[in-house]
Amino acid sequence: MKATVKEENNPRGASVIERLSEEVFTRYARWDSASVTMYLRLGGKVFVAYNGEEVLGGAFLRKLTDELWELTMIGVFPDYRMRGVGKAIMRKILESVRGEIYLHVSVDNSPAIKLYEDFGFLKVKRISRFYSTGEDAYLMVLKRTPRRPEKESDVRG
Ligand SMILES: CC(C)(COP(=O)(O)OP(=O)(O)OC[C@H]1O[C@@H](n2cnc3c(N)ncnc32)[C@H](O)[C@@H]1OP(=O)(O)O)[C@@H](O)C(=O)NCCC(=O)NCCS
Repeated sequence: MKATVKEENNPRGASVIERLSEEVFTRYARWDSASVTMYLRLGGKVFVAYNGEEVLGGAFLRKLTDELWELTMIGVFPDYRMRGVGKAIMRKILESVRGEIYLHVSVDNSPAIKLYEDFGFLKVKRISRFYSTGEDAYLMVLKRTPRRPEKESDVRG
């Protein structure tokens, strides 16, 4: 399936995250579009995967600093899974965001853990009873080379 992933830091993107939250992440914290919009104003990003007009899935990242991001959610609607959509979303995220990315994932969520490991995320810690359901989570981090400080001569202009 051809998935085109677009950055959608706008109401349309926020509503896709709300839909994913309702349909895919029913066991975890809910994200409504108003909360997503608030984080977009703080520099967060939303990515949406399309096949034509059809929405396949998406991702939401919160920005802590230019060099540190949280991958808060990535999800593909059930009908479109196992066809490379998750990977396409992840590739687009890594093209668009610099710096380190961290996330939490349930220790039982092997499809997601496999996806993250394929892209270089490492498990750094197991957190007991992280979720309200009582499940443990892994904290996973993707370390990337920080942007080199700009040369003084470039800054002075
Ligand atoms: C995790 C998720 C986003 C993966 O999306 P996807 O489009 O199905 O993933 P892809 O087709 O791009 O596959 C990515 C890799 O994960 C593996 N994978 C995907 N689903 C899998 C499954 N059910 N079991 C085992 N491996 C799986 C694939 O094998 C693939 O690796 P490969 O190509 O080397 O074989 C999707 O399963 C999902 O939305 N899950 C529910 C939401 C969720 O748990 N999100 C993560 C927590 S925030």
